[in-house]
Amino acid sequence: MAITDKKESILVVDDAPQTLEVIRRNLTSKGYQVFTASNAQEAIKIIESAPVDLVITDLKMPEVSGIDLIRHIRENYRDTEVMMITGYPSIESAVEAVKTGAEEYLTKPFTDEELFSAVERTLDKLHIRRAGQARFEKMPTASYGLIGESEKMRNVFSRIAKAASTSATVLITGESGTGKELVARAIHYSSSRASAQFVPVNCGAIPEELLESELFGHVKGAFTGAIESRAGFFQTADGGTIFLDEISDTSLAMQAKLLRVLQDKEVCMVGSSRPRNVDVRILASTNKDLLGLIRKDVFREDLYYRLNVITIDIPPLRDRNDDILLLIQYSANKFAKDLGKPAPKFSDNALQVLKNYHWPGNVRELENVIQRLVVMTDEEMIEVPDLPSLLRFSALRKAGLNRTLAEVEAEYIQNVLASVEGNISKASEILGIDRKTLRAKLKKIQGPS
Ligand SMILES: Nc1ncnc2c1ncn2[C@@H]1O[C@H](COP(=O)(O)OP(=O)(O)OP(=O)(O)O)[C@@H](O)[C@H]1O
Ligand SMILES: [Mg+2]
Repeated sequence: MAITDKKESILVVDDAPQTLEVIRRNLTSKGYQVFTASNAQEAIKIIESAPVDLVITDLKMPEVSGIDLIRHIRENYRDTEVMMITGYPSIESAVEAVKTGAEEYLTKPFTDEELFSAVERTLDKLHIRRAGQARFEKMPTASYGLIGESEKMRNVFSRIAKAASTSATVLITGESGTGKELVARAIHYSSSRASAQFVPVNCGAIPEELLESELFGHVKGAFTGAIESRAGFFQTADGGTIFLDEISDTSLAMQAKLLRVLQDKEVCMVGSSRPRNVDVRILASTNKDLLGLIRKDVFREDLYYRLNVITIDIPPLRDRNDDILLLIQYSANKFAKDLGKPAPKFSDNALQVLKNYHWPGNVRELENVIQRLVVMTDEEMIEVPDLPSLLRFSALRKAGLNRTLAEVEAEYIQNVLASVEGNISKASEILGIDRKTLRAKLKKIQGPS
């Protein structure tokens, strides 16, 4: 048998020797490496001892059926595709084969061309899957802890680079958990200020009456309890960067003071009237709509324009689907390493559910979900049932698979009725029920009138 190393290996299983021989000859002529088996037991022996890319199996065979063979392969060999051939075309058998995991089925008699194109189609799917897995197994590289290869994240990266090359004020916007603080750090640590301090200040978490002295410092005796002078965050950040997180949580009075710092590049410690120069780069973030807050008179418009010299808007995770898989892989590796565990793998279906979820809490939510999975599961492979029920439920809803039979029936009846412009006789004919039954069903659908 001519074996080339480029072409895939195919195992053909059929109890009819002529069929086996014809397929073997055809596929060999195309350069595939072909194994043959006349029953499922023999086939399993071959699969156990040689790497097989594709199994083509007959459906009806004595003893172990093709369906059972397909099931065995699906459960034990993830990297092998399955194609079914049958001499008894029936919807039921085709449906069963596909449900069990056959990618394609072919009905006898088939032409050589039909065989070749079915084989190629099936192998194509295998290649796509392998390419996806290979990409997935590669640990994504992070720049400044930021992961992302999507067009949208590439745009964010280029804006970070631009911001890092200046000392201009930057407003970082994005939903909660999208990575605003990470972006702020990335700007600082890739700027010329990297060797000085990065000082994050959560404006929403510091009580209003303390914020001013925390930011600007205070002199001795400035207020009861001020036993000695203390520097504020702005002084600490001198030469470096201050990150005013949740800037919209500040009062209008505080905003006026910040505006002055931005304009004059100097701060006044609480209790002192002598302004001091500071060389601080300001980055600010918000997850609120500042323009909306300006309209409501709770955010100063002049401060907004001062902050908004460069804007970096981080898109929500659901709008950058390509990054979801990367982030899953990155987080799984990270958390597994922390726990001294091997990183789990994810089944294709589980990845699909994770990818389709809308992630209202963005990257933070994704990290939490993956961390929980890594901690809770000892399985090598994470499957759909391992995922939090919220995610599974939303996957069902997306696929429209959470409707009851009654709901589907009601919708179908209404569609049929609409298509015959409400003609009950015609509708009942199409639906295969009598008019009385249809009326009763309609009454139920429409509720008591
Ligand atoms: N692109 C990313 N790559 C890797 N990790 C990320 C990315 N974006 C966010 N994270 C992680 O997600 C979590 C939330 O990020 P971060 O705190 O920067 O978000 P945030 O936008 O400031 O959220 P919030 O508005 O809730 O303060 C952090 O643990 C961060 O490390
Ligand atoms: Mg934050």
